[in-house]
Amino acid sequence: MQQPRGLADAPRPRVDRRLRAHIAWLRADARRKSQRRRLLAQFPKDATGAEIGSWKGDFAAQLLRHTRPRALYLIDPWEHREETTYEQAMFGGQGSDGATETQAVYDSVLDRFSAEIAQGRVLVRRSRSVEAAATFADGELDWAYIDGDHTYEAVKADLEAYYRALRPGGLLAGDDYGVPGWWEDGVTRAVDEFAGSGRTSGPTIIGTQFLFTKM
Ligand SMILES: C[S@@+](CC[C@H](N)C(=O)[O-])C[C@H]1O[C@@H](n2cnc3c(N)ncnc32)[C@H](O)[C@@H]1O
Repeated sequence: MQQPRGLADAPRPRVDRRLRAHIAWLRADARRKSQRRRLLAQFPKDATGAEIGSWKGDFAAQLLRHTRPRALYLIDPWEHREETTYEQAMFGGQGSDGATETQAVYDSVLDRFSAEIAQGRVLVRRSRSVEAAATFADGELDWAYIDGDHTYEAVKADLEAYYRALRPGGLLAGDDYGVPGWWEDGVTRAVDEFAGSGRTSGPTIIGTQFLFTKM
């Protein structure tokens, strides 16, 4: 006669798997938020900074709240990328509605920060990062936070472009150090190489956040 199956042998329902994945995501998100708060505690107040890659403006809101900048540039092309490299990116193949979605996200950012934009405290630049960097004079920025295109080539180009735009003593920080993703190890490799260039102190690593100081 067949033995009744114990609870431990019972197939776990799919919802259980989804719930566990969701809890794991919530934990990782909480860890990242706490790491970012520790990072922002090191940023100067009343300064001029740029976030490279802003998407819906969630971290921009934190930057405003915790660093109270004189001027905050939000730099993002809000464009849908069709290339195979970006098949797994939120602004590529993982997007829900192509260019319609990126336009809606851009519009939502203008709406979200309308008061700060009117005051001239938030300056939105709908442009790819390297093109936007070229509009800054040498030393114009006190800090830059890099969270745009995570491919190795793009992060390397961003580090170079925003290093130039920083004043001596300025901060060059960013997200996803040591995080494997569709970009493979692009962020980590570019940051490690940049560290070897001898032009900065650091990086200080706070979980997934990196922080260089321009010498
Ligand atoms: C991970 S999201 C940014 C999330 C945001 N920093 C936050 O934490 O709330 C990546 C963003 O990079 C943007 N992006 C992609 N390529 C870019 C480029 N070449 N220059 C600037 N931003 C870029 C995408 O449009 C997307 O909004």
